[in-house]
Amino acid sequence: MRILAIETSCDETSAAVVEDGRELLSNVVASQINIHALYGGVVPEIASRAHTEALSGTVAKALTDAEITVDELDAVAVTNTPGLIGALLTGVSFAKGLAFSAQKPLIAVHHIRSHIAANYIARPELKPPFYALVVSGGHTSILAVDDYTEYRTIGQTRDDAAGEALDKAARVLGLPYPGGASMDKLAFQGDIHAIPFSISKVNGSPYDFSFSGLKTSVINYTHTLESRQVEIDEKMKTDIAASYMNALVNNITSRLEVLIQNEERRPIVLAGGVAASKNLRNAISTLCGKYNVEFYFPPISLCGDNAAMVGAQAFFELQKGNISDMTLNAFATSSAD
Ligand code: KG4
Ligand code: ZN
Repeated sequence: MRILAIETSCDETSAAVVEDGRELLSNVVASQINIHALYGGVVPEIASRAHTEALSGTVAKALTDAEITVDELDAVAVTNTPGLIGALLTGVSFAKGLAFSAQKPLIAVHHIRSHIAANYIARPELKPPFYALVVSGGHTSILAVDDYTEYRTIGQTRDDAAGEALDKAARVLGLPYPGGASMDKLAFQGDIHAIPFSISKVNGSPYDFSFSGLKTSVINYTHTLESRQVEIDEKMKTDIAASYMNALVNNITSRLEVLIQNEERRPIVLAGGVAASKNLRNAISTLCGKYNVEFYFPPISLCGDNAAMVGAQAFFELQKGNISDMTLNAFATSSAD
């Protein structure tokens, strides 16, 4: 079963061909990072226009790389939710047009489900049930994945996503956009105990997260230094990055530890853009080692937004009979369950 998948939920235009949900035949990612870096964040209208310009070429390259024609495809899949509405609509419209003209089944894929499915490509032996921790620029959630198309959200952020908190701190420190990767790298060089950034708790909801307090504390910390006319030198920057990253990672692992201690024992699967963080991977790996729990994470190339993961999840949606018709729409928000 060979599926052409399209992803345009945020700032990457991507197309891929995936066989049987596990084997990558091609994966083309056209990043818009350079365009948005000018503004320090994603500008939705610019993202939609850039997707429109890049889509045909990206899909054509994915087909060429996979050495397959449209006629030979078994289905066309697309991310339809959640994400930037204008950006999602470009991909959904393209996929509908292609599926209709080629008379192929159309499969809608949820963005969070697809991030988790990136792990199926890298680890053929991985099968539900497991717990997934999805950490990206727009989402931070813990889900019980009971089957390939059955999910239960058991915890999520009440405010900002972990990636957003990292990007904001990076911006405050003058690091280039998007800042997650720079923060992750810098954090290895600093003192994690230099600044006491706190771990938040959400009363009565042990698996929910909150990152807005942490985000505000780094802004306040640097503003206080500035008001005292203290220059933030490179050493201070690395210490702030290390302490901040440590607090952010502990916020996440503290929830996972409660999960491991109190819920049914299942493997833990990491997903999303922030899954590329070495600090986070190391910490979860140590935690899982302590409790002898299996830990899966995707290769760096499949952590950020890409269509390969969409093609992987689409295979399981198709097997379940989840086929869309030409009334398929895009939605800015929706849960993965
Ligand atoms: O999944 P993703 O590409 O987009 C969303 O669906 O939101 O995630 C993007 C997020 C950004 O916040 C970015 O800074 C973060 O992933 N990120 C990282 C790393 N690479 C990207 N965070 C920590 N360490 C990294 N190496
Ligand atoms: Zn994403």
